[in-house]
Amino acid sequence: MPDNPAAEDRRPACALPKRAGESLVLGIETSCDETAAAVLAGLASDRNAAPTTRLLSNVVLSQIEEHAAFGGVVPEIAARAHVAALDGIIEAALSDAGTALCDIDAIAVTAGPGLIGGLMAGFTTAKALAFGADKPLLPINHLEGHALTARMTHGLAFPYLLLLVSGGHTQIVLVRGVGDYARLGTTIDDALGEAFDKTAKLIGLPYPGGPNVEKAAFAGDGTRFALPRPLRGTARPDFSFSGLKTAVRQAAESVAPLGEKDVADLCASFQAAVRDTLADRVGRALDRFAADHPSVATPTLVVAGGVAANAYLRDGLETLCREKEWRFIAPPLSLCTDNGAMIAHAGLERLLAGLIPDVRAVFAMAPRSRWPLDESATPLVGSGKRGAKA
Ligand code: KG4
Ligand code: ZN
Repeated sequence: MPDNPAAEDRRPACALPKRAGESLVLGIETSCDETAAAVLAGLASDRNAAPTTRLLSNVVLSQIEEHAAFGGVVPEIAARAHVAALDGIIEAALSDAGTALCDIDAIAVTAGPGLIGGLMAGFTTAKALAFGADKPLLPINHLEGHALTARMTHGLAFPYLLLLVSGGHTQIVLVRGVGDYARLGTTIDDALGEAFDKTAKLIGLPYPGGPNVEKAAFAGDGTRFALPRPLRGTARPDFSFSGLKTAVRQAAESVAPLGEKDVADLCASFQAAVRDTLADRVGRALDRFAADHPSVATPTLVVAGGVAANAYLRDGLETLCREKEWRFIAPPLSLCTDNGAMIAHAGLERLLAGLIPDVRAVFAMAPRSRWPLDESATPLVGSGKRGAKA
């Protein structure tokens, strides 16, 4: 968006939709295979209460078609597609919101974790916009975006428990405040979304794996294949999914060549194993939270991340919460998978809390492919020279 006279002519006036006291945040997300931008307006509330927000626009461009032929996300293709689409997506988010860059109070951008090429495309674009328009720039942890979404959609107060299930992460997190997270459990190998995607691939379903496994499972018999419930009964609420994926492979080999009914039964049996596993692992975390927080009148579980779009698993978590007399919150599907609104919201929370980093430090900052939400937690997976994965 060049700041030249021709561009000036096309721009709406800088007076638009802000209400008294509201802040406007532009959020930009490019960490994986969605190019996304959104504009969120919000007002501060009391202490632990959520800000009052209005989502003015939320534009998401999925790259599914670019990656489908390769059976998964190709990082180089993703980065180039973000570069090609980002300016238009940001312009669309501003114009859908009836606003312009000059109205915006801060720009929030995903600075990690994720695929480094996409992160660089988004972060560099955000730096240029912030520099050109002289706006504060807030680098956001993508996982914090997922973690705080329920405050935007349901006005949820702190503290609460979060089950984060995405393509790269599977964690149970105690959310105490903005930037204040304690990881109670994590995966010791594959993330749940990864297990869905790998399961899909090995039984011949196309990318994206998760939604296709869910679709196939509708017609399947979840009791046909006896699959393991990994780590069931262990004290710490951790997860393990690589053995489950291997068990699916062995079950598939035992009935190959696979017919449509076999595929449906394998998907349904896989989902049944995941649902039982989540009930056991998350159940333990709920009990621990309740014991540690006796004064929280309505303890709440929030599920977030791409796998939270799965209706069968949501239903399993809802049942668990009903049994334990917990409140259960699952954001609408469009805000479970990656989007710019969650990044704008995390930025708004940080802006309202006065967590605005020094401008020079932000401009010198590089995006982080790995960035745990709870940096004090012992890494259980992927700990290497680039840092802990989860
Ligand atoms: O949060 P997300 O959009 O991107 C990451 O940050 O990873 O999550 C993507 C993951 C993928 O592994 C995808 O297969 C999975 O979420 N997913 C699903 C469903 N929709 C997306 N998994 C199971 N059932 C679904 N309906
Ligand atoms: Zn995500």
